[in-house]
Amino acid sequence: MPSPLPFCELHLHIEGTLEPATIFELAARHGATLRDATPDELAARYDFANLQGFLDLYYENMGVLRTEDDFAHLAEAYFLRAHRAGVAHVELFVDPQAHTARGVPAATVLRGLDRAARAAEERLGITSGIIACVLRDEPVASAQRMLDEVLDAGVPLLGIGLDSAEVGHPPRLFRDVFARAADAGLRRVAHAGEEGPADYIREALDELGAERIDHGVRALDDAALVERLARERIPLTLCPLSNVRLRVVDDVARLPFRTLLEAGLVVTVNSDDPAYFGGYLDDNVAALRNAFALTDDEVRLLARNSVEASFASDARRDELL
Ligand code: ADE
Ligand code: ZN
Repeated sequence: MPSPLPFCELHLHIEGTLEPATIFELAARHGATLRDATPDELAARYDFANLQGFLDLYYENMGVLRTEDDFAHLAEAYFLRAHRAGVAHVELFVDPQAHTARGVPAATVLRGLDRAARAAEERLGITSGIIACVLRDEPVASAQRMLDEVLDAGVPLLGIGLDSAEVGHPPRLFRDVFARAADAGLRRVAHAGEEGPADYIREALDELGAERIDHGVRALDDAALVERLARERIPLTLCPLSNVRLRVVDDVARLPFRTLLEAGLVVTVNSDDPAYFGGYLDDNVAALRNAFALTDDEVRLLARNSVEASFASDARRDELL
């Protein structure tokens, strides 16, 4: 069924759209050797015990992304698929440190993504912005260098985010990085409460000035926090299929989706790393629809929430609502 309203996708790691077939295509282009003989053999290993199990493979696979053209090609394929899913606006995450550590400059990454984003706006009418994420399991000094590099890349940047292995890497460590990003005019978001505690969500708000929380399902462990998120209309970017594949919950029906909605939270639906978790935005909406018998009005509410939660211009938001 087509989406009744255009959606904004607000939690999408562009490297998480790297499909197995594309990994093989890029490896052949660069003469790189892979561990598996075929894309199917690789995909058969997409059975993750937890977030770290996924991240290990996610970082390994992105080794085939080397040139500006590779990043443009990756993002072009995503925009085409997102268009089919009914996505009208995307705020895409990228992990520059994962590339600079391999000798690929941040400017190469951002230029490729920006090229694809401009083409997507022209050809598909999809608007977008780039959010550079800090790898929270790397040192603060590395995050500071990353911020300098992305600000100097000469490519428009929408925001700064926080991702990678959560537990043991609290948001407060990156307070100064986020403060500097805010001074440079960047919007701020953070993964918190995916595997980590509700306290990390509070820290993301208080120490980083996060305007949206990515995942945030663990907020429900703290009633006062839930009340605050609702009062301040801080959106949560939920990723249902991700939560199942990373074993945050056993199946989509076990997500506290209705509890979060009934608490008055601005809940949005997103695909996180669709090439790894079994589906793009439309598949995530369908999974919620099936698990919770969502009405058309409830799906429309999710679409409206995604527009409200976006950092799109006022004019673009008016267009999408
Ligand atoms: N990087 C890519 N996907 C992620 C996720 N779901 N959580 C944290 N870091 C990530
Ligand atoms: Zn994520």
